[in-house]
Amino acid sequence: MKKLSVFQTINKIGQEVELYGWAQSIRKHKSVVFIDLRDRTDIIQVVGTTEDFQKINQEDVIYIKGIVKKRPEKLINPNILTGSIELEAKELKILNKTAPLPLQVDTDGYEIDEEVRLKYRYLDIRRPRLYKNLSFRSKFIDTIRQFFFKNDFLEIETPILSETTPEGARDFIVPSRLQPGKFYALPQSPQQYKQLLMVAGIERYFQIARCFRDEDPRADRAYGEFTQLDIEASFVQKEDIMNLIETMIIEVYQKLKIPIKEKPFPVFTYKQALEKFGADKFDLRTDEEKKKNIQAFAWVIDFPFFEKTEEGSWTFTHNPFSAPKPEFMNDLLNKKNIENILTTQYDLVCNGYEVGGGSIRNHQPQALKAVFEIMGLKEEEIKLKFGHMIEALGFGAPPHGGIALGIDRLIASIMNEKNVREVIAMPMTSGGKTAIMNAPSPVDKEKLRELGIKVI
Ligand code: AMO
Repeated sequence: MKKLSVFQTINKIGQEVELYGWAQSIRKHKSVVFIDLRDRTDIIQVVGTTEDFQKINQEDVIYIKGIVKKRPEKLINPNILTGSIELEAKELKILNKTAPLPLQVDTDGYEIDEEVRLKYRYLDIRRPRLYKNLSFRSKFIDTIRQFFFKNDFLEIETPILSETTPEGARDFIVPSRLQPGKFYALPQSPQQYKQLLMVAGIERYFQIARCFRDEDPRADRAYGEFTQLDIEASFVQKEDIMNLIETMIIEVYQKLKIPIKEKPFPVFTYKQALEKFGADKFDLRTDEEKKKNIQAFAWVIDFPFFEKTEEGSWTFTHNPFSAPKPEFMNDLLNKKNIENILTTQYDLVCNGYEVGGGSIRNHQPQALKAVFEIMGLKEEEIKLKFGHMIEALGFGAPPHGGIALGIDRLIASIMNEKNVREVIAMPMTSGGKTAIMNAPSPVDKEKLRELGIKVI
């Protein structure tokens, strides 16, 4: 395995080192060849004088053995970490030649057509900006995990081939071979499973969970799949979950040296938010704070539980599994005063994004049933779609609640990226095509026949 990364050479002046990486740029001055050798950590200038240096092309994979030297004062490049040193090459091996690249990888890449960047995402990720985003993402998730393990949460995986769960988007469906004519749905969130884990007595659950939603992409919404930090806990009240999340964020951001504007996070009711900002997500930063990329969190609470659909029936505003605020429980059970019922929902906002949302749940079956009845679902339909939840709640479900945070949005905001796709390794294109690979793609007739499916 490679022992030394480029950024470590800064401490090796006068020593012989071996480096591996890519020839990012090549400048030839007669018999002397200058190469910027790049690995994932940095670039270093290499000076080569032998004949074989003349054969290197941009982005060839190379091995170089050489001596780390201090650069003469007037040749110091203050823009890079290794700008005060260079590598005097003694030995060169070209480990692999490259075909000409279809896109440049030594710029920030914003100027390149995104379809091209995604088709060649494995090259696109060579650019330091993308590496930095992915490296931060890894560290961020690691630090989050440490917090939850320290607080006695279990990380539990929930099924991907699943049943539809109502989060307000279209489902991705997967045909069943064993039961032709029937379909699985990919989960829009682990909502129902995490509540069932509470019935199971897990008490403290979290998961870095992939969620699948078929909805039109936007800057803050990748098409198809995204990642949630999903949490559920038993014997909690609204304030417990809000405090837990706030403590987690403050601790994680402090460890990673990311500045937060205001602690504790300010809390607005939905009504106050609308009056003050005209929306339930908003940016609390001044222009100066925006320039410094400070993270400004706030909570929004006291949302109406229900709103009218275009057809005039009631639907939930956020989450049908939420409990109403305790003072509205009787109204919910009696299906009265519906327009005024407030939910226990709490949304977390940061720098203009909605970065999280959760609630205390209805842990009593009759309350959950009342939500679906208010929405006009017939007894049979409730039984078919949610019978398993209503039944489970009847077996001694503890009071419980939780939240899910949008990992992609949090990272995009921290890395000052306008589009969440910039912090996802291999996102889909806005037209719903996978990066690099050719999905969605046709399936041969034989496979379809096995599944009992005919394409019309
Ligand atoms: P919700 O649907 O609000 O709640 O999702 C929680 C958070 O996930 C993020 N998010 C997204 N991020 C990127 N792309 C998307 N398409 C996308 N959709 C959502 C947002 C959002 O705040 N089960 C509930 C949570 C709960 O009540 O515990 C849920 O999924 O940041």
